[in-house]
Amino acid sequence: GDGVIGIHDLSFATTEFVLPHTALAAHNGTEIGKYHHGIGQRSMSVAAADEDIVTLGAAAAEPLTVRHGTDRIRTVVLATESSIDQAKSAGVYVHSLLGLPSATRVVELKQACYGATAAVQFAIGLVHRDPAQQVLVIASDVSKYELDSPGEATQGAAAVALLVGTDPALVRIDGPSGLFTADVMDFWRPNYRDAALVDGQESIAAYLQAVEGTWKDYTEQGGHPLDEFSAFCYHQPFTRMAHKAHRHLLNTCGQDTDEAGINRAVGRTTAYNAVIGNSYTASVYLGLAALLDQADDLSGRSVGLLSYGSGSVAEFFAGRVVPGYREHLRTEAHRAAVDRRRTLDYAAYRELHEWSFPTDGSNHPTPAQSTGSFRFAGLRGHKRVYERR
Ligand code: CAA
Repeated sequence: GDGVIGIHDLSFATTEFVLPHTALAAHNGTEIGKYHHGIGQRSMSVAAADEDIVTLGAAAAEPLTVRHGTDRIRTVVLATESSIDQAKSAGVYVHSLLGLPSATRVVELKQACYGATAAVQFAIGLVHRDPAQQVLVIASDVSKYELDSPGEATQGAAAVALLVGTDPALVRIDGPSGLFTADVMDFWRPNYRDAALVDGQESIAAYLQAVEGTWKDYTEQGGHPLDEFSAFCYHQPFTRMAHKAHRHLLNTCGQDTDEAGINRAVGRTTAYNAVIGNSYTASVYLGLAALLDQADDLSGRSVGLLSYGSGSVAEFFAGRVVPGYREHLRTEAHRAAVDRRRTLDYAAYRELHEWSFPTDGSNHPTPAQSTGSFRFAGLRGHKRVYERR
């Protein structure tokens, strides 16, 4: 119908490699229960030397362009907090790899893990203005913390591509947004660093504060009551965070916080995040992918999405699942993206973690490690070179 805008298609990609938390635990002597139950993580996606946010983003988006063509895409918004260039948008490389029309606007957005939700909201505005167009939103991140730091166990990497347009096949974006911004230093990455800096406990507190703040604004804006939602997709730096966040929301609303209820609300959103790790901007949409891909029919149901980006900006908004959505899912491809990863041992993981490019402007081909459709071939005269296989 007229004015109905939302997510028409969703596809994700992840890395060539995976490190099981058992290997990390064996290295650092952590009780495995802390990883499996305490933070709720089983394994983490690890990028090959010839993978980055561009190759992941292109791999996530290509299935959308194959299914829907590229004629209606007039905007590409790539959200990331693991940017590869201070000036050029990573989206321009993706645009080129996918052969998108030159009559396209392409831009990169940043506000920690929140960026992709800003991209979705901006996309909705653009589609309102020109209902014939579709906006390709790509959330792509490689999450990296210092070796042997508390954050290390929450690393991960993935890209999610969303096609936003009218008459969406999957999810209608519905009603107001609840917004919250606070100037905090819970997690950040100065331009001269590869690995993020974080105050772990402070970051959890800041996240919970943002949950409360967005919900307060959402209610004031006339949003749906809590009991109208069948599930809640939270940003998942680690999957237990979704449980903590939902418990906090229930508390804020003066409701029961029994484990079974929390599990019903968030349990179906964690399957991909638990084995991929923190994919920053992509994380909340991997939560949505897991929810849609699982068996129960959610046709006509409301889903709450809570996007949090450290620093911090957060947004709560609602999606209504479109009847017939299951015919359009990519469940098998998503499972295959997770299952195709090759398992690293700890030493190989550590070597990749420490890998970095010389910055002298000479030619540096990357080792051919990945086997996906797109690869980062190396640096030539300070320029990144990408290839399609
Ligand atoms: N069996 C079961 N559970 C165990 C256990 C065991 N043997 N040992 C410990 N646990 C539990 C702990 O009780 C704790 O649970 P609760 O939080 O429910 O109390 C949990 O495991 C984690 O233990 P600790 O808090 O002691 O762990 P830690 O100090 O090593 O750090 C962390 C955890 C702060 C999340 C750390 O991994 C970190 O700094 N991560 C990066 C930052 C982050 O992800 N922050 C999240 C909010 S910020 C955000 O969302 C933006 C973003 O993407 C970064």
